[in-house]
Amino acid sequence: MSDLYCVFGNPISHSKSPVIHTAFARQCRQDLRYEALLAPIDGFAASVRTFIAAGGRGANVTVPFKEEAFRLATRLSVRAELAAAVNSLRFDGAEIVGDNTDGAGLLRDLLVNLACPIAGRRVLLLGAGGAARGVVAPLLEQRPATLVIANRNVSRAQELVQCFAASASASLLCPGGYPELAGQSFDLVINATSASLAGALPPLPAAAGIFAPASLAYDMMYGKGDTPFLAFARAQGVERLADGLGMLVEQAAEAFHFWRGLRPDSTPVIAALRARSEAGPAG
Ligand code: ATR
Repeated sequence: MSDLYCVFGNPISHSKSPVIHTAFARQCRQDLRYEALLAPIDGFAASVRTFIAAGGRGANVTVPFKEEAFRLATRLSVRAELAAAVNSLRFDGAEIVGDNTDGAGLLRDLLVNLACPIAGRRVLLLGAGGAARGVVAPLLEQRPATLVIANRNVSRAQELVQCFAASASASLLCPGGYPELAGQSFDLVINATSASLAGALPPLPAAAGIFAPASLAYDMMYGKGDTPFLAFARAQGVERLADGLGMLVEQAAEAFHFWRGLRPDSTPVIAALRARSEAGPAG
């Protein structure tokens, strides 16, 4: 019988994870089945236990269950602890092992796929929710010149910076609001807000030129065509633009490695998904 994996979320029907992991399994000659499971909003832990009882070997976890998965895990990787969220679970006997592969996925997309170094660069991270928190430690490990975290709710940005204050100096990691970005420019601007989901743009200062020459604008969301943030960057003259499709596939590759000990080649999978999404919304 094939080994069983799934992704839990709510909603989940849009998930590309089954397509990605099925492609990885074929590529790595692994006999596994991967499905998307809708967990009730108040029934995540029960859904996980039912899945384990049915023989499940591991799972991905997406919105809105990553913090709950963090609490459910009986053992955590260091990066899951730092992120305070879990996107990958492995069921080892009685243990529920939690990992977070989002930050590693973002870094691999930036460093390898997009050839965008972070060391010594000025980086701006927009947002201070779960998605932002998951990538702060991996970004800091790359030793940027500065990492500014801007959020509408400034106290949330301050709280997030506080969590990482021990690993970074005050001049390296600074919180703030959007108006304070006026007059500052960055080599890499990452949108980790959920604004794109609602077709909205974070309130960036329009005329202030936050994008340095040759900067990269990166939206952790993806969709057909430019997200509002990428459209804004393009209108500001930014030529290097990327959405979160590469990160999605790279975090999945890292999760596949966490489960199976094998690292799939993400390049053909990213290309296939890109071709599908350009073919239309149903693709
Ligand atoms: P996630 O897990 O996706 O990060 P979250 O924890 O609910 O979700 O956080 C959402 C983030 O997107 C927050 O940083 C939120 O900003 P506030 O804390 O100020 O609410 C940000 N966000 C959502 N919609 C936004 C918008 N239209 N403009 C700017 N920021 C937005």
